[in-house]
Amino acid sequence: MTQKIPHEISPVAISTAFGLDGRGIFPYTLWPAYRRLLRLVRETGTAVFTKSATRHARRGNFIPANPLTWGYIRRLPGLGMLNAYGLTNAGVEAGLPGLKNALGSGLNVIPNFYPEFGKGAAALRETLEAAALYRDALGPAFRVLELNFSCPNAPEDIACNVADGLACVREVRRAHPDLRLIAKLSVVHPFEFAQELEALGVHALHAVNTIPYDLVFPPPHPPSPLARVGGGGVSGGPAFAQAYAYNRELRKKVKLFLIMGCGVTCLDEAQRYFDAGADAVSLCTLVLRHPGEAGRIVSRYSPRITG
Ligand SMILES: Cc1cc2nc3c(=O)[nH]c(=O)nc-3n(C[C@H](O)[C@H](O)[C@H](O)COP(=O)(O)O)c2cc1C
Repeated sequence: MTQKIPHEISPVAISTAFGLDGRGIFPYTLWPAYRRLLRLVRETGTAVFTKSATRHARRGNFIPANPLTWGYIRRLPGLGMLNAYGLTNAGVEAGLPGLKNALGSGLNVIPNFYPEFGKGAAALRETLEAAALYRDALGPAFRVLELNFSCPNAPEDIACNVADGLACVREVRRAHPDLRLIAKLSVVHPFEFAQELEALGVHALHAVNTIPYDLVFPPPHPPSPLARVGGGGVSGGPAFAQAYAYNRELRKKVKLFLIMGCGVTCLDEAQRYFDAGADAVSLCTLVLRHPGEAGRIVSRYSPRITG
């Protein structure tokens, strides 16, 4: 075990699969197994990273109300998913009432924010504004912020955002010295990025986000069915091998609290991440594909259940 971050990150965390405020995604909330998992997560104090918000409303590819866009999220064999969601959200302010409500109901919710580096200097300003909005609305409950530097479905090239990411962390640390920061990485990021984030005082790393389709299925596999919108990101079973290899190397490079995730489909794979030195393990696709198994993993590692 490496250094602890004071705001308790549970051994198993739910990543984005409970939506923009952590209270669940419609229509999944109609599914009894998903609702049971939500209850378990609340009772066990399991950490829930929200789906990413941007400072202002953003229209991505997937629009929940538009069935013509539903093909941007697909199932893959092996409990996998391919998505080109594209960060559709109503902006930080619109999400605050839901977040307050989630925290008030006992959910251990941690906001995830996507800095839109494609906007140039405005991205830093917007990230600082977002952090101030969270602080003013959530008060002392706002102790941790996850920064998403790794979405493969945005126009920004994540392989090239290292300098922007470091500048962003530096500014947020300066403006909010007490705020704990988690940086969410991609397999396309060099390990030096993680090391520089550590040197800047980031409190935890979360690796990794969905993996660009072409990396998981290179030629001679056929191109992504979502090639028109960049190919999309692969998660769940088909992504495990590459995510695991990246995390095992990353563990050797940093001492930081490390949340390992991507590709977990069963208890055994969660254990493989712990054996590789994870301080915590995150689950997303499994929550959406097999919430019962996600619940089994949460229960297995929850200190409130295992004592
Ligand atoms: C449909 C879908 C939407 C996602 N949206 C976000 C997001 O908004 N922000 C983010 O940081 N990660 C997002 N992710 C990535 C997950 O949080 C997680 O890091 C990734 O899917 C790998 O873990 P998994 O294999 O357990 O799903 C999304 C994943 C899926 C499948």
